[in-house]
Amino acid sequence: MTKGALALLIHGGTDNWSPQRWKARFNDVCSDRPVVLLPDAGLDPADVHYAAVWKPVPGELAGFPNLRVIFNLGAGVDALMADKTLPSVPLVRVAVDDLTQRMTEYVVLHVLMHHRQELYLRESQRAKRWAPKYQWPAAAIGVGILGLGTLGIDAAEVLKRIGFQVAGWSRSEKQVQGIETFHGAAQLNTFLARTDILVSLLPLTPDTRGILDRKMFAQLRRSSPLGAPAMINAGRGGLQNEADILACLDDGTLGAVSLDVFGQEPLPADSPFWTHPKVVLTPHNAADTDADAISRYVAEQIGAFEAGGALRNLVDRVRGY
Ligand code: NAP
Ligand code: GLV
Repeated sequence: MTKGALALLIHGGTDNWSPQRWKARFNDVCSDRPVVLLPDAGLDPADVHYAAVWKPVPGELAGFPNLRVIFNLGAGVDALMADKTLPSVPLVRVAVDDLTQRMTEYVVLHVLMHHRQELYLRESQRAKRWAPKYQWPAAAIGVGILGLGTLGIDAAEVLKRIGFQVAGWSRSEKQVQGIETFHGAAQLNTFLARTDILVSLLPLTPDTRGILDRKMFAQLRRSSPLGAPAMINAGRGGLQNEADILACLDDGTLGAVSLDVFGQEPLPADSPFWTHPKVVLTPHNAADTDADAISRYVAEQIGAFEAGGALRNLVDRVRGY
Protein backbone atom coordinates (compact mmCIF):
# COMPACT_ATOMS: atom_id res chain seq x y z
CA MET A 1 0.00 0.00 0.00
CA THR A 2 1.32 3.49 -0.85
CA LYS A 3 2.21 5.51 2.23
CA GLY A 4 0.45 8.83 2.90
CA ALA A 5 1.99 11.77 1.08
CA LEU A 6 4.21 14.42 2.65
CA ALA A 7 3.19 17.84 1.34
CA LEU A 8 5.75 20.67 1.34
CA LEU A 9 4.55 24.26 1.66
CA ILE A 10 7.57 26.54 1.67
CA HIS A 11 7.40 30.31 1.23
CA GLY A 12 10.69 31.55 2.65
CA GLY A 13 11.84 33.70 -0.24
CA THR A 14 15.62 33.34 0.35
CA ASP A 15 18.14 30.85 -1.12
CA ASN A 16 17.97 28.71 1.99
CA TRP A 17 14.22 28.35 1.51
CA SER A 18 14.35 27.33 -2.16
CA PRO A 19 11.37 24.89 -2.35
CA GLN A 20 13.17 22.73 -4.96
CA ARG A 21 16.16 22.33 -2.65
CA TRP A 22 13.94 21.10 0.17
CA LYS A 23 12.02 18.80 -2.19
CA ALA A 24 15.29 17.14 -3.29
CA ARG A 25 16.29 16.53 0.36
CA PHE A 26 12.89 15.15 1.34
CA ASN A 27 12.86 12.87 -1.74
CA ASP A 28 16.08 11.31 -0.38
CA VAL A 29 14.99 10.85 3.23
CA CYS A 30 11.34 9.94 2.55
CA SER A 31 11.95 7.76 -0.50
CA ASP A 32 9.19 5.34 0.55
CA ARG A 33 6.36 7.90 0.23
CA PRO A 34 5.21 10.57 -2.24
CA VAL A 35 6.75 13.98 -1.50
CA VAL A 36 4.71 16.70 -3.13
CA LEU A 37 5.66 20.34 -3.50
CA LEU A 38 2.53 22.48 -3.33
CA PRO A 39 0.73 23.82 -5.21
CA ASP A 40 0.27 20.60 -7.23
CA ALA A 41 -2.87 20.43 -9.33
CA GLY A 42 -2.59 16.61 -9.66
CA LEU A 43 -2.65 15.98 -5.89
CA ASP A 44 -5.70 14.49 -4.19
CA PRO A 45 -5.78 16.41 -0.85
CA ALA A 46 -7.07 13.24 0.86
CA ASP A 47 -3.71 11.54 0.18
CA VAL A 48 -1.77 14.00 2.35
CA HIS A 49 -0.91 12.67 5.83
CA TYR A 50 1.95 15.01 6.74
CA ALA A 51 2.86 18.60 5.94
CA ALA A 52 6.31 20.18 6.31
CA VAL A 53 5.94 23.93 6.16
CA TRP A 54 7.65 27.31 6.37
CA LYS A 55 5.44 30.40 6.45
CA PRO A 56 2.42 28.80 4.74
CA VAL A 57 -0.26 31.24 3.67
CA PRO A 58 -3.10 31.25 6.26
CA GLY A 59 -5.75 28.76 5.14
CA GLU A 60 -3.32 26.67 3.03
CA LEU A 61 -3.26 23.78 5.51
CA ALA A 62 -7.01 23.62 6.02
CA GLY A 63 -7.74 21.63 2.85
CA PHE A 64 -6.26 18.24 3.84
CA PRO A 65 -8.93 16.04 5.49
CA ASN A 66 -6.50 13.25 6.48
CA LEU A 67 -3.63 15.36 7.80
CA ARG A 68 -1.96 13.71 10.81
CA VAL A 69 0.98 15.97 11.74
CA ILE A 70 2.30 19.40 10.75
CA PHE A 71 6.08 19.88 10.90
CA ASN A 72 7.24 23.48 11.08
CA LEU A 73 10.65 23.69 9.37
CA GLY A 74 11.98 26.22 11.89
CA ALA A 75 12.00 26.72 15.66
CA GLY A 76 9.56 29.65 15.74
CA VAL A 77 5.90 28.86 15.05
CA ASP A 78 4.47 32.39 15.29
CA ALA A 79 3.54 32.47 11.57
CA LEU A 80 1.51 29.25 12.01
CA MET A 81 -0.12 30.40 15.23
CA ALA A 82 -1.50 33.40 13.35
CA ASP A 83 -3.50 31.03 11.08
CA LYS A 84 -6.94 30.72 12.66
CA THR A 85 -7.80 27.86 10.27
CA LEU A 86 -4.82 25.72 11.28
CA PRO A 87 -6.03 22.08 11.57
CA SER A 88 -5.99 20.79 15.14
CA VAL A 89 -3.43 18.03 14.56
CA PRO A 90 -0.10 17.79 16.42
CA LEU A 91 2.32 20.57 15.47
CA VAL A 92 6.05 19.84 15.74
CA ARG A 93 8.77 22.50 15.75
CA VAL A 94 12.48 22.24 15.06
CA ALA A 95 14.81 21.56 17.98
CA VAL A 96 18.01 20.03 16.59
CA ASP A 97 21.67 20.42 17.46
CA ASP A 98 22.52 21.83 14.03
CA LEU A 99 20.23 24.85 14.44
CA THR A 100 21.09 25.27 18.13
CA GLN A 101 24.82 25.39 17.40
CA ARG A 102 24.32 27.95 14.64
CA MET A 103 22.38 30.20 17.03
CA THR A 104 25.03 29.82 19.72
CA GLU A 105 27.67 30.92 17.18
CA TYR A 106 25.60 34.04 16.44
CA VAL A 107 24.99 34.87 20.11
CA VAL A 108 28.63 34.37 21.12
CA LEU A 109 29.84 36.42 18.13
CA HIS A 110 27.60 39.35 19.01
CA VAL A 111 28.08 39.24 22.78
CA LEU A 112 31.85 39.28 22.22
CA MET A 113 31.50 42.06 19.65
CA HIS A 114 29.84 44.34 22.19
CA HIS A 115 32.02 43.19 25.08
CA ARG A 116 35.23 43.74 23.08
CA GLN A 117 34.07 47.20 21.86
CA GLU A 118 34.26 46.19 18.21
CA LEU A 119 32.07 49.08 17.00
CA TYR A 120 34.39 51.59 18.66
CA LEU A 121 37.53 49.80 17.43
CA ARG A 122 36.36 49.61 13.79
CA GLU A 123 35.42 53.28 13.90
CA SER A 124 38.91 54.03 15.32
CA GLN A 125 40.51 52.04 12.54
CA ARG A 126 38.63 53.97 9.86
CA ALA A 127 39.72 57.23 11.55
CA LYS A 128 43.36 55.95 11.92
CA ARG A 129 42.99 56.68 15.65
CA TRP A 130 45.24 54.72 18.06
CA ALA A 131 43.14 55.07 21.22
CA PRO A 132 42.54 51.84 23.14
CA LYS A 133 39.88 51.86 25.86
CA TYR A 134 40.16 49.71 28.98
CA GLN A 135 39.10 46.15 28.15
CA TRP A 136 37.05 44.60 30.95
CA PRO A 137 37.32 40.87 31.64
CA ALA A 138 34.27 38.78 30.71
CA ALA A 139 33.74 38.12 34.42
CA ALA A 140 32.83 41.80 34.89
CA ILE A 141 29.98 41.61 32.39
CA GLY A 142 26.46 40.35 33.11
CA VAL A 143 24.85 38.67 30.10
CA GLY A 144 21.10 38.15 30.47
CA ILE A 145 19.28 35.77 28.15
CA LEU A 146 15.54 36.24 27.68
CA GLY A 147 14.26 32.74 26.86
CA LEU A 148 15.99 29.78 28.48
CA GLY A 149 14.73 27.12 26.09
CA THR A 150 16.54 24.94 23.54
CA LEU A 151 18.54 27.87 22.14
CA GLY A 152 18.91 30.01 25.27
CA ILE A 153 20.36 27.23 27.44
CA ASP A 154 23.02 26.26 24.89
CA ALA A 155 24.14 29.86 24.35
CA ALA A 156 24.15 30.44 28.13
CA GLU A 157 26.40 27.46 28.74
CA VAL A 158 28.98 28.52 26.13
CA LEU A 159 28.97 32.14 27.37
CA LYS A 160 29.43 30.89 30.92
CA ARG A 161 32.48 28.88 29.79
CA ILE A 162 33.97 32.06 28.29
CA GLY A 163 33.64 33.64 31.73
CA PHE A 164 30.62 35.96 31.56
CA GLN A 165 28.19 36.22 34.48
CA VAL A 166 25.26 34.58 32.73
CA ALA A 167 21.62 34.65 33.78
CA GLY A 168 18.47 33.51 32.02
CA TRP A 169 14.78 34.39 32.23
CA SER A 170 11.97 32.01 31.34
CA ARG A 171 8.24 31.59 31.87
CA SER A 172 8.55 28.61 34.23
CA GLU A 173 11.16 28.00 36.93
CA LYS A 174 14.41 26.40 35.67
CA GLN A 175 17.68 25.16 37.10
CA VAL A 176 20.75 25.22 34.89
CA GLN A 177 24.17 24.48 36.36
CA GLY A 178 26.27 27.64 36.66
CA ILE A 179 23.55 29.94 35.31
CA GLU A 180 21.54 32.29 37.51
CA THR A 181 17.90 31.73 36.65
CA PHE A 182 14.84 33.98 36.91
CA HIS A 183 11.28 33.38 35.83
CA GLY A 184 8.00 35.14 35.40
CA ALA A 185 7.03 38.80 35.48
CA ALA A 186 7.83 39.13 39.19
CA GLN A 187 11.55 38.35 38.69
CA LEU A 188 12.09 40.27 35.47
CA ASN A 189 13.26 43.51 37.12
CA THR A 190 15.94 41.77 39.16
CA PHE A 191 17.14 39.92 36.07
CA LEU A 192 17.35 43.15 34.05
CA ALA A 193 19.10 45.10 36.82
CA ARG A 194 22.14 42.75 36.70
CA THR A 195 22.32 42.66 32.88
CA ASP A 196 24.84 44.57 30.72
CA ILE A 197 24.24 42.63 27.49
CA LEU A 198 20.64 41.53 26.95
CA VAL A 199 20.09 38.65 24.51
CA SER A 200 16.57 37.92 23.28
CA LEU A 201 15.82 34.33 22.28
CA LEU A 202 12.11 34.43 23.09
CA PRO A 203 9.35 33.08 20.87
CA LEU A 204 6.81 35.61 19.57
CA THR A 205 3.50 35.07 21.37
CA PRO A 206 0.71 37.37 22.57
CA ASP A 207 2.60 37.57 25.91
CA THR A 208 5.97 38.55 24.42
CA ARG A 209 4.95 40.85 21.55
CA GLY A 210 6.65 44.25 21.99
CA ILE A 211 8.43 43.18 25.20
CA LEU A 212 11.75 44.72 24.06
CA ASP A 213 10.78 48.32 24.71
CA ARG A 214 12.02 51.43 26.48
CA LYS A 215 10.58 50.27 29.81
CA MET A 216 12.73 47.13 29.63
CA PHE A 217 15.89 48.88 28.35
CA ALA A 218 15.69 51.50 31.10
CA GLN A 219 15.88 48.74 33.73
CA LEU A 220 19.18 47.29 32.46
CA ARG A 221 22.25 47.90 34.63
CA ARG A 222 22.94 51.64 34.42
CA SER A 223 26.47 51.28 35.84
CA SER A 224 27.48 48.94 33.02
CA PRO A 225 31.26 48.66 32.50
CA LEU A 226 30.40 48.93 28.79
CA GLY A 227 29.23 52.51 29.35
CA ALA A 228 25.66 51.68 28.37
CA PRO A 229 23.98 48.30 28.00
CA ALA A 230 23.75 46.47 24.67
CA MET A 231 20.83 44.45 23.30
CA ILE A 232 20.84 41.53 20.86
CA ASN A 233 17.58 40.25 19.34
CA ALA A 234 17.60 36.99 17.38
CA GLY A 235 14.10 35.89 18.46
CA ARG A 236 11.52 37.63 16.28
CA GLY A 237 11.07 41.19 15.08
CA GLY A 238 7.63 41.39 16.69
CA LEU A 239 9.31 41.22 20.12
CA GLN A 240 10.89 44.65 19.63
CA ASN A 241 9.50 48.17 19.67
CA GLU A 242 11.66 49.58 16.87
CA ALA A 243 10.91 53.25 17.56
CA ASP A 244 11.96 52.71 21.20
CA ILE A 245 15.21 51.04 20.14
CA LEU A 246 16.16 53.98 17.92
CA ALA A 247 15.21 56.54 20.56
CA CYS A 248 17.10 54.62 23.28
CA LEU A 249 20.22 54.39 21.10
CA ASP A 250 20.06 58.10 20.45
CA ASP A 251 19.60 59.15 24.11
CA GLY A 252 22.14 56.63 25.50
CA THR A 253 19.70 54.30 27.27
CA LEU A 254 21.21 51.64 24.99
CA GLY A 255 24.84 51.73 23.83
CA ALA A 256 24.50 49.43 20.82
CA VAL A 257 22.25 46.71 19.40
CA SER A 258 22.57 43.64 17.19
CA LEU A 259 19.37 42.87 15.32
CA ASP A 260 18.79 39.76 13.21
CA VAL A 261 15.00 40.08 13.03
CA PHE A 262 12.62 42.91 12.20
CA GLY A 263 8.94 43.76 12.25
CA GLN A 264 9.02 43.88 8.45
CA GLU A 265 11.26 41.46 6.57
CA PRO A 266 13.04 42.03 4.27
CA LEU A 267 13.91 45.27 6.05
CA PRO A 268 12.74 48.19 3.85
CA ALA A 269 15.53 50.17 2.15
CA ASP A 270 14.52 53.36 3.99
CA SER A 271 14.81 51.84 7.48
CA PRO A 272 17.14 53.92 9.70
CA PHE A 273 18.57 50.65 11.08
CA TRP A 274 20.61 50.11 7.88
CA THR A 275 22.89 53.07 8.51
CA HIS A 276 22.68 53.68 12.26
CA PRO A 277 26.27 53.66 13.64
CA LYS A 278 25.22 51.76 16.78
CA VAL A 279 23.33 48.99 14.97
CA VAL A 280 24.83 45.70 13.80
CA LEU A 281 22.30 44.20 11.43
CA THR A 282 21.96 40.72 9.89
CA PRO A 283 19.20 39.51 7.51
CA HIS A 284 17.42 36.93 9.72
CA ASN A 285 20.15 34.37 9.32
CA ALA A 286 21.37 33.99 12.89
CA ALA A 287 20.51 30.28 12.67
CA ASP A 288 19.52 29.02 9.25
CA THR A 289 17.46 25.87 9.07
CA ASP A 290 19.67 23.36 7.27
CA ALA A 291 17.72 21.28 4.73
CA ASP A 292 19.86 18.13 5.31
CA ALA A 293 19.60 18.15 9.10
CA ILE A 294 15.94 19.16 9.27
CA SER A 295 14.63 16.83 6.55
CA ARG A 296 16.32 13.94 8.40
CA TYR A 297 14.72 15.11 11.66
CA VAL A 298 11.24 15.19 10.07
CA ALA A 299 11.71 11.77 8.42
CA GLU A 300 12.84 10.25 11.74
CA GLN A 301 9.84 11.72 13.55
CA ILE A 302 7.40 10.37 10.92
CA GLY A 303 9.05 6.94 11.20
CA ALA A 304 8.76 6.92 14.99
CA PHE A 305 5.17 8.20 14.87
CA GLU A 306 4.09 5.49 12.41
CA ALA A 307 5.75 2.88 14.62
CA GLY A 308 3.54 4.04 17.51
CA GLY A 309 6.12 6.29 19.20
CA ALA A 310 5.64 9.79 20.58
CA LEU A 311 6.34 12.95 18.60
CA ARG A 312 9.06 15.18 20.08
CA ASN A 313 9.11 18.98 20.39
CA LEU A 314 5.37 19.44 20.13
CA VAL A 315 4.04 22.99 20.21
CA ASP A 316 1.66 23.88 23.02
CA ARG A 317 -1.07 25.73 21.15
CA VAL A 318 -2.30 27.50 24.29
CA ARG A 319 1.12 28.94 25.17
CA GLY A 320 1.78 29.63 21.48
CA TYR A 321 5.29 28.12 21.33
P1 NAP B 1 11.94 27.19 23.17
O1 NAP B 1 12.81 26.00 23.41
O2 NAP B 1 10.47 27.00 23.07
O3 NAP B 1 12.28 28.24 24.32
C1 NAP B 1 11.55 29.40 24.50
C2 NAP B 1 11.94 30.01 25.83
O4 NAP B 1 11.22 31.25 25.98
C3 NAP B 1 11.55 29.14 27.02
O5 NAP B 1 12.55 29.22 28.02
C4 NAP B 1 10.27 29.78 27.52
O6 NAP B 1 10.01 29.59 28.91
C5 NAP B 1 10.58 31.25 27.25
N1 NAP B 1 9.34 32.03 27.19
C6 NAP B 1 8.30 31.92 26.34
N2 NAP B 1 7.33 32.80 26.65
C7 NAP B 1 7.77 33.47 27.74
C8 NAP B 1 7.22 34.48 28.55
N3 NAP B 1 6.01 35.00 28.31
N4 NAP B 1 7.94 34.93 29.60
C9 NAP B 1 9.15 34.41 29.86
N5 NAP B 1 9.75 33.43 29.14
C10 NAP B 1 9.05 32.97 28.08
O7 NAP B 1 12.37 27.95 21.84
P2 NAP B 1 13.82 27.94 21.13
O8 NAP B 1 13.99 26.74 20.31
O9 NAP B 1 14.85 28.24 22.15
O10 NAP B 1 13.63 29.18 20.12
C11 NAP B 1 13.33 30.48 20.58
C12 NAP B 1 12.97 31.40 19.43
O11 NAP B 1 14.12 31.72 18.66
C13 NAP B 1 12.02 30.81 18.38
O12 NAP B 1 10.68 30.84 18.82
C14 NAP B 1 12.27 31.70 17.18
O13 NAP B 1 11.38 32.80 17.21
C15 NAP B 1 13.70 32.19 17.40
N6 NAP B 1 14.61 31.69 16.36
C16 NAP B 1 15.24 32.61 15.56
C17 NAP B 1 16.13 32.17 14.60
C18 NAP B 1 16.90 33.15 13.75
O14 NAP B 1 17.58 32.74 12.81
N7 NAP B 1 16.85 34.43 14.05
C19 NAP B 1 16.39 30.80 14.44
C20 NAP B 1 15.73 29.92 15.27
C21 NAP B 1 14.84 30.37 16.23
P3 NAP B 1 9.74 28.11 29.48
O15 NAP B 1 11.09 27.42 29.43
O16 NAP B 1 9.27 28.33 30.85
O17 NAP B 1 8.74 27.46 28.57
C1 GLV C 1 14.03 30.78 12.28
O1 GLV C 1 13.80 31.93 12.39
C2 GLV C 1 13.41 29.74 13.04
O2 GLV C 1 12.41 30.02 13.71
O3 GLV C 1 13.90 28.60 12.99
